[in-house]
Formats: sequence, structure tokens, C-alpha cells
Amino acid sequence: MNKLDLIEMAKKARKLSYSPYSEFKVGAAVLCKDGEVYVGSNVENASYGLCMCAERNALYNALMHGKKKEDFVMFAVVADTEGPCSPCGACRQVLQELYPSEAPIYCANLSGDIKETNVEELLPFSFRKDDLK
Ligand code: THU
Repeated sequence: MNKLDLIEMAKKARKLSYSPYSEFKVGAAVLCKDGEVYVGSNVENASYGLCMCAERNALYNALMHGKKKEDFVMFAVVADTEGPCSPCGACRQVLQELYPSEAPIYCANLSGDIKETNVEELLPFSFRKDDLK
């Protein structure tokens, strides 16, 4: 599986988005070392603060299937944005906790634009679990 395959899976997940309020559909997918892929889309609620992003749903989906930070090799997020879709601040913090800091994160859109980044770049000088010691 390459980055384009993973982005395709994120696009498929995006179609399952439940976003009647924003009408902004997002899809995400994470590839594991064993070849398994876990996807997520954004899920909204009439109580707006409860909306959950695609990126977090994909990571939590993987966790609920027994996967851990060290199992992840590639992550993709896609939306119908002008440029590559960038993860929100909350998702960056969750990626920092659950996704390897230097593994690739592909930000994509429906026009075929792709930007490769990683957690270190998305969230420098982050608060992390070691800070709690
Ligand atoms: N959204 C995501 O799923 N991921 C992001 O990184 C940015 C925002 C969702 C949340 C909400 O359902 C909709 O997009 C509009 O903000």
C-alpha cells in the first residue's frame, strides 16, 4: 500500500461523514505495519461541541482494534479544501500522543494536492505525557 492507496481509503471514509451542520466532509486513514488500515470520518452533533474529527476517529478506531503508536506507519487526511487539508489543533495534539512523531502524515484534497508532514512539524514544542512526570 502506498500513500495514494491510503488517501483513496481516506476518501472512501470521507463519504461516510456525518456532517449535516458544517456540510464539510473529512476522511482519514492510518496504515499499520501489519498492513491493516483503520479509517474515520468526522461525526457531528446538534450539540456542536461534541463534533468529532475524522483524524481522531481513525486513530481511536485503530486503538479499539488493539493497535498502538509503534504499529503506525502512514496517516492520511482528505477534505474538499482548496489546498491540502490540514489537521486541526486538537487532532495535532492527539496525533502527538498516539502517532509516531516522524512518521509521514499526508494532507490531501479532492483535486490531488498532497502535502507530506509529520507531528514534529505540525505541533512543535508540544505538551506531552513526559511533562506530567
Ligand atoms: N474537521 C475534521 O474532521 N478534521 C479537521 O482536522 C478539521 C475539522 C471536521 C470537524 C467538523 O465536523 C467539520 O470538519 C467542520 O469543522
